[in-house]
Amino acid sequence: MLDHPDLDVPVEMSPAQLRTVRDELQRFLLPYRFGLAEVSTTIDILRDEFQYLHDYNPIEHVSSRVKSADSLVEKIARKGIDADFDSIRARITDIAGIRITTSFTADAYRRFDLLTTQSDITVRRVKDYIAAPKPNGYKSLHAIIGVPVFLSTGPVEVPVEVQFRTIAMDFWASLEHKIYYKYRQQVPGELLAELKDAADSAAHLDARMERLHRELHGGMRQLEADPRVFAV
Ligand code: GTP
Ligand code: MG
Repeated sequence: MLDHPDLDVPVEMSPAQLRTVRDELQRFLLPYRFGLAEVSTTIDILRDEFQYLHDYNPIEHVSSRVKSADSLVEKIARKGIDADFDSIRARITDIAGIRITTSFTADAYRRFDLLTTQSDITVRRVKDYIAAPKPNGYKSLHAIIGVPVFLSTGPVEVPVEVQFRTIAMDFWASLEHKIYYKYRQQVPGELLAELKDAADSAAHLDARMERLHRELHGGMRQLEADPRVFAV
């Protein structure tokens, strides 16, 4: 199947060929799994150290996933990518993905800074949808980072997509995703307007909670001032 340039054309395969495709896909995905494990460990270490030094845990939740075969095939078709592993490797940079949900916006930026300044990590691309939200109201800080994975054949650099967002942004994004999916991308205009309104409310809640948090902790002791936070 993956050898075939046109995914819409049915291809007959024997069980043995199918097993080969499955094995090749699993092997292809392996370095992404390892990359994910490395970045997850780095995030855990930074969180535990921060908790120890500042008696404060800025991370509410971390989730990670390797893209499913279904979703990979869907993206290959949507982006018109050649269905060979080299093209997929070069063009699809979110096969390994991690989402870091923080309490406050400043924490999202701070986690981004701490992670991306690690010496083994390279930053390939950043999209700051917190400073410049998408027209639908989506907010999150995205980074495609490269992390070295040491295999028996030598080191390879694996891309990992990391998304940083607050609980409020995450709450909004998961609902928006469900609505978008339910309406098969044909969301009624009224609902889109409501979603945008809800995104604005979530942003106000974030700003308000962050202000309260700062007051509670007497200024900047734990949440460092970050000019980007107030750029919303
Ligand atoms: P994809 O091809 O969808 O991966 O987008 P992209 O390569 O242009 O990257 P981008 O940084 O814009 O989006 C990457 C990921 O962010 C998506 O796969 C989603 O998980 C998430 N995302 C981006 N935009 C939205 C949005 O409007 N709503 C929600 N719920 N999630 C979004
Ligand atoms: Mg994606």
